[in-house]
Amino acid sequence: MKKVNVALVGLGFGGAFAEIYKCHPQVGSLTVYDTNKELEDAFCKKLGITKKYQSFQDILSDSSIDAVHLVTPIPLHEDQTVMVLEAGKHCACTVPMATSLDGIRRITEAVRKSGKTYMMMETTLYTYQFFYVKELVDSGKLGKIQFLRGSHYQDMVNWPDYWMGLPPMHYGTHAIAPITVLSGSRIQRVGCFGSGTLDASLTSRYGNPYPMESALFEFENGMKAEATRSLFETARQYQEGLFVYGSKMSFEWGFQDDELPYITTAYPNPEGKRGGIAVTEQIPMPNHYQSLPEELRRFTVGSGYDPLNPQESLKKGSAAGHHGSHPHLVHEFISSLVENRKPWIDEVLGGNITAAGVCAHESAMHNGIFVEVPTF
Ligand SMILES: NC(=O)c1ccc[n+]([C@@H]2O[C@H](COP(=O)([O-])OP(=O)(O)OC[C@H]3O[C@@H](n4cnc5c(N)ncnc54)[C@H](O)[C@@H]3O)[C@@H](O)[C@H]2O)c1
Repeated sequence: MKKVNVALVGLGFGGAFAEIYKCHPQVGSLTVYDTNKELEDAFCKKLGITKKYQSFQDILSDSSIDAVHLVTPIPLHEDQTVMVLEAGKHCACTVPMATSLDGIRRITEAVRKSGKTYMMMETTLYTYQFFYVKELVDSGKLGKIQFLRGSHYQDMVNWPDYWMGLPPMHYGTHAIAPITVLSGSRIQRVGCFGSGTLDASLTSRYGNPYPMESALFEFENGMKAEATRSLFETARQYQEGLFVYGSKMSFEWGFQDDELPYITTAYPNPEGKRGGIAVTEQIPMPNHYQSLPEELRRFTVGSGYDPLNPQESLKKGSAAGHHGSHPHLVHEFISSLVENRKPWIDEVLGGNITAAGVCAHESAMHNGIFVEVPTF
């Protein structure tokens, strides 16, 4: 079976993926690259990697590399993705895909011209919570979806410079991706308000005046959804939340990111009294490991993995970064290359999710006027 030679670029958050690639049975070789040489050396030493690159261009010129996974700063995503594709290599890139509609267009054109694969590595679509909700929807247990909501609250104070004053919806993908997929459709238009004020030191870089943005989305199939995003000067604990209101059941994320979600089941009132009966429980979610090769299953949990009982492992250790999503992202990217098919979050889905955020900020800058999200 064909094996894929991978270069992982950017080892901050990207470092979390290094060992997963190294263990994937269909990865031939892994090389890593970071402009921070101390960090790069530490990963090479830890993983026994001897091949080194002097520049990003060196990776692109190396004909033995099939695929590049970019986990570099946001302003580099667009150019680096296009460079990777134009060099004839497959590209996975962390979110967001780009920060402008032109950027998304450039990437989709490069995908089509090169015939190579692009995948946006959106963590929220591979969390064990998302797998659980998707099953409730697909099995019909949740009934009709009546409304969807996404949230992402995070305080970026003291993060690298490029974050300072970033328009909240330019990195809206964690709030927007799950509601888009669950809608079974694509986002067609968006109206968004920005709210609050920012310290002047944060407004100069991007001309964004808002700490918080809240968007209403209309999907092509008529469904509606809302997403809220904050990045600065907002007192709220971290949360990448998903809220799904169904006719039979509803799913609401816990207050904190790691808290158990609230599942509400609706029952008819047996005595014909007014109103229905809604019973709410906080239920532990199952670990989702079955679709992964054996070698990657331990990466769904932070510690205490028991190969004989992967489900119980989730209770023993905390779920690994971003709710166990990392090994699923790696597996989907590598499998799509080996099987010569599109990955799930390709340039079309990634483009719609990212563009919806770009258009949301555009709407916020025009006092909430509805903006059409282009197709790619
Ligand atoms: N849940 C998620 O999907 C999630 C979570 C965190 C971060 N991210 C994304 O991951 C990316 C990286 O996040 P981070 O927190 O590690 O950022 P960071 O800025 O702290 O680190 C980026 C790393 O890339 C390196 N780097 C910078 N320029 C480079 C270049 N030209 N070539 C190679 N390496 C270079 C830096 O030295 C650093 O090690 C961001 O784009 C962010 O949006 C996504």
